[in-house]
Amino acid sequence: MAGVEDRVIAVTGAGGGLGREYALLLARSGAKVVVNDLGGARDGTGSGSAMADAVVAEITGAGGQAVADYHSVATEEGGAGVVRTALEAFGRIDGVVSNAGILRDVAFHKMTHEQWDAVIQVHLHGTYHVVRAAWPHFREQGRGRVVVATSNTGLYGNFGQANYGAAKLGMVGLINTLAIEGRKYDILANAVAPQAATRMTEDIAPPELLAKLPAAHVAPIVGHLLTDECADSGTVVVVGGGLCTRVQLYESKGVTFADVPTIEQVGERWAEITDMSGAVAAVNRVG
Ligand code: NAI
Repeated sequence: MAGVEDRVIAVTGAGGGLGREYALLLARSGAKVVVNDLGGARDGTGSGSAMADAVVAEITGAGGQAVADYHSVATEEGGAGVVRTALEAFGRIDGVVSNAGILRDVAFHKMTHEQWDAVIQVHLHGTYHVVRAAWPHFREQGRGRVVVATSNTGLYGNFGQANYGAAKLGMVGLINTLAIEGRKYDILANAVAPQAATRMTEDIAPPELLAKLPAAHVAPIVGHLLTDECADSGTVVVVGGGLCTRVQLYESKGVTFADVPTIEQVGERWAEITDMSGAVAAVNRVG
């Protein structure tokens, strides 16, 4: 794979699952990889260095370059720490893959503030903390790559995952604006919605389905989004089991009211407003 050689890329949550696959492929392709992982359980409890260390050992054992980082992305200090590790080990930062994640699944009516907050902190704030720390370096060097891990739960919803879905679509909102603000500095920001068999999905999807979704399928897409050749920004790509598609907003033809309508007039034309036949790719006309 051309385009990531000698690039310094921080992958958060790279001690297992998808992040590990990203780190291994990037290192095999010549990148210098910061393998960040807090090393805790799926729900975010606990911590340890073993997960990140094992991936670094795998990479360096195969002749690649990697350094371990154990910061939690959920704090400002942790996000800054990930970028500092890249600068100390390799002297620069070229890309961030914001992949670290946890689950605290529960039906919304039972969801506590703690369950809501823990998930938002890791996924949404964690992405902010790491990307925010890397951003000045990207601007200064006139190049940067951001890939965030969104999810079908953010795009479509999923029972028991209100916290996770809100965080995941928040990350799409973030890359939409980063794509705009980064454009003139050759900073690209894209999102991948993976579908893969990992500890996160092991008891959520049926085994027959998971058998068709090896995490390795997702890594080349993330790799492409980190290359010099990639010119797209603000895109959302769904990847799993060999299928790779782009998801985009579409807008109905809609209805124009010449005067402020009554509630009843809105009701009368509701079917027309929401009719998606003839819908077109949505563009922002208002700002
Ligand atoms: P995973 O649980 O194997 O990986 C997540 C990693 O993040 C773990 O190694 C964990 O230790 C690390 N982590 C958790 N909190 C952290 C923190 N505060 N700081 C640093 N590291 C932390 O799960 P998987 O499936 O590999 O997920 C990777 C990403 O992809 C997640 O963001 C997940 O939400 C997303 N995703 C995965 C899907 C799938 O099908 N596996 C579906 C949609 C999204």
